[in-house]
Amino acid sequence: MPATVVVGAQWGDEGKGKVVDLLAEHSDLVARYQGGNNAGHTIVAGNETYKLHLVPSGVLYPGTLCVIGTGTVVDPGALVTEIDALESRGISLDGLRLSGNAHLIMPYHVALDGASEMRLGKFSIGTTRRGIGPCYQDKASRIGIRAQDLLDPKILVRKLEIALELKNDIMEKIYGLARMSAQEIADGLIPYATRLAPFISDTSLLVDTALRNGQNVLLEGAQGTMLDLDHGTYPFVTSSNPIAGAASVGIGIGPTRITRVLGVSKAYTTRVGEGPFPTELDDADGQRMLERGNEFGTTTGRQRRCGWIDLVALRYAARLSGFTELALTKLDVLSGFERVRICDAYRTREGDLLRDFPYHQTVFHGCTPVYHDLPGWDDDITECRDLKSLPTAARTYVETIAEAVEVPITLIGTGQGRHQVIDTVEV
Ligand code: GDP
Ligand code: IMO
Ligand code: MG
Repeated sequence: MPATVVVGAQWGDEGKGKVVDLLAEHSDLVARYQGGNNAGHTIVAGNETYKLHLVPSGVLYPGTLCVIGTGTVVDPGALVTEIDALESRGISLDGLRLSGNAHLIMPYHVALDGASEMRLGKFSIGTTRRGIGPCYQDKASRIGIRAQDLLDPKILVRKLEIALELKNDIMEKIYGLARMSAQEIADGLIPYATRLAPFISDTSLLVDTALRNGQNVLLEGAQGTMLDLDHGTYPFVTSSNPIAGAASVGIGIGPTRITRVLGVSKAYTTRVGEGPFPTELDDADGQRMLERGNEFGTTTGRQRRCGWIDLVALRYAARLSGFTELALTKLDVLSGFERVRICDAYRTREGDLLRDFPYHQTVFHGCTPVYHDLPGWDDDITECRDLKSLPTAARTYVETIAEAVEVPITLIGTGQGRHQVIDTVEV
């Protein structure tokens, strides 16, 4: 059985959690392949709301294996807190597995993330300050600490000593932070090591075995395409690759195992943190999206910046990940606008019209959106469960997007709830 990847098509918070939860009902294994607890994936099931940061969004289905893959970065304290919180709500974590190769976020990563943001001042990235960037940095520098190190206390202290040799100088001399002790960090990790040890395993083998046994495997992305380290709006990006190709690397399976790639986009656009955002609105329309969409970050509570849908960016996302399908979430939030706007091209400073996303940041920073306006709709669509019951204007809006991106829209979100969705539509 081939695997399916769910990828954020914008700047994160597209509703990946809800989409993964929907597909997880028919999946045997759900695996996160990158990112860490900078992610916040919300699932609303009946009266219960779950905000997941590290645990894959398949956890609400008993019996589903939930894998935190090699490509992720894991804050052990944050993971244990999340496990405890889920268990206290009666959710079983028996199916959780953590890759022994996943890198661990250490206290100095969190300290350095905050200090680096402070130092950057007006050039700051607006990170979640969870230590994500510094942890991936150490992974690339080959001085990282991995989940498997928790299983060997002697090696753990030694590796921490090596990492801290440099880190302590940077923390003290550059950022004016207190030095940290390898032994104290290692001692502090003991309870987490005890808690997490039963979950640590060879997750590449596990996913491969599931695929060989014909099981349904779902690979869950965090963040989104425009935050991709290589292809996003660098430097205002995260430190990993959310795009679909990274799922193969981050899990440890060959790219030929992935045949279905589901991009997730909101019916409009949001962004948290700093960085360019061509369709951003600073008017009543943006305010309406913010309020009706309740656009506040799941992880940091920050207000999300809002704007119209950007098809130049969405086509770019479809290209980078090879979307075979698109899920369009939060269409309900657009009810009540007199007209809805679709950005189908950018106008450069020189007056050129671009349909393809520009590779050069100077060009991109000077781009303004060119809009194609469509009539809005007043009807509340939160009870719509099939394409036929959508107002004509809403349907036209969806069809226009699918045609312009050249990807079928197979899921439409009509509300926060698990079942507020129009399913298996091909526009
Ligand atoms: P993720 O990071 O991609 O999983 O997205 P988040 O959970 O951070 O943010 C998406 C928000 O939109 C969450 O609060 C979801 O419950 C909510 N949401 C998802 N789909 C829909 C939808 O179709 N309509 C509405 N109104 N809310 C939705
Ligand atoms: P989910 O999975 C939205 C943003 C931060 C910042 C940039 C870098 O819920 O979609 P980082 O802490 O990763 O170094 O911050 O990336 N960011 C997200 N924005 N959704 C997310 O995750 C994000 N994870 C990171 O706001 O701009
Ligand atoms: Mg989120």
